Amino acid sequence: MLIFHTAKELRKNLSAKISSLGLVPTMGALHLGHVSLVERAVKENNKVVVSIYVNPTQFNSIEDLNSYPVNLENDLKLLKPFKKQLILYIPKHNDIYPEGIQSKKYDFGSLSQYMEGALRPGHFDGVATIVEALFRNIMPNKAYFGEKDFQQLQIIKSLSRSLNLGIEIVGCPLLRGEDGLALSSRNDLMPEDLRAEASVIFQTLNYITEQASDWSIKEMELYFKSKVEDKNGFKMEYFCVANPSDLIPVSHLDSRNEHRIFVAVFAGKTRLIDTVKLFRK
Ligand code: PAJ
Repeated sequence: MLIFHTAKELRKNLSAKISSLGLVPTMGALHLGHVSLVERAVKENNKVVVSIYVNPTQFNSIEDLNSYPVNLENDLKLLKPFKKQLILYIPKHNDIYPEGIQSKKYDFGSLSQYMEGALRPGHFDGVATIVEALFRNIMPNKAYFGEKDFQQLQIIKSLSRSLNLGIEIVGCPLLRGEDGLALSSRNDLMPEDLRAEASVIFQTLNYITEQASDWSIKEMELYFKSKVEDKNGFKMEYFCVANPSDLIPVSHLDSRNEHRIFVAVFAGKTRLIDTVKLFRK
């Protein structure tokens, strides 16, 4: 598999014959959720760049940044089946941040105001800064992002519209493990006992979506909190129902509109997020 550490080298090696170039940005510690994005990108493009870069500006604490998992050997193993079509981009800080490691400031309006935007100040500025740098460095035709980070996906769609570089953003479904837990690089940071109980998040969300026609949003939140916090070591950070398009939280369900539930839960020190569609029957 071709691996480049600078965008300059990478671009030099891109043949002019490529009619469609895909990009899958990641922070490594890959799992089958990432692989599902790569599979889709490989189907829809002649060449695909997978970037692996743990972006310091999107972390809210040094402790979180330093504990972020790194496992390049396993990443290469997971990507091997696609090696003919893949190019790996593993930039050094200087290639992304030539003027020093710092975020740009963006205005995403309501998209960055709630949920992750409210609880992780500066996080989306950091995400947008790296994604903009990747877009400008690589200039793909299509870029792939997961609905696991639904708020991030909506923000990147908005970023891409305002950059006007002609890059199509493709949203891909959230992949779960057999027990329903959303796959995440952070899952392996949990001690075994918490990992074993973490399926309570999806199971409870699932149950709530089934009761949606009879419950108020407040009742859903109280139920979610009590079920999750019933497990030792689990703490709900937020439970939010919002419109998928503007991500503004709603306090009442309106059958004419689609809604999504968004949650963040601490399992010990590990912060997990999840999201499901909410249908009113
Ligand atoms: P990372 O967490 O590595 O995720 C990379 C991509 O994989 C994101 O688009 C994310 O939504 C997607 N993904 C993660 N888990 C998934 C799952 N279970 N199912 C489907 N897709 C999943 O998100 C980031 O990195 C960073 O913020 C990044 C965009 C790379 C910028 O640094």
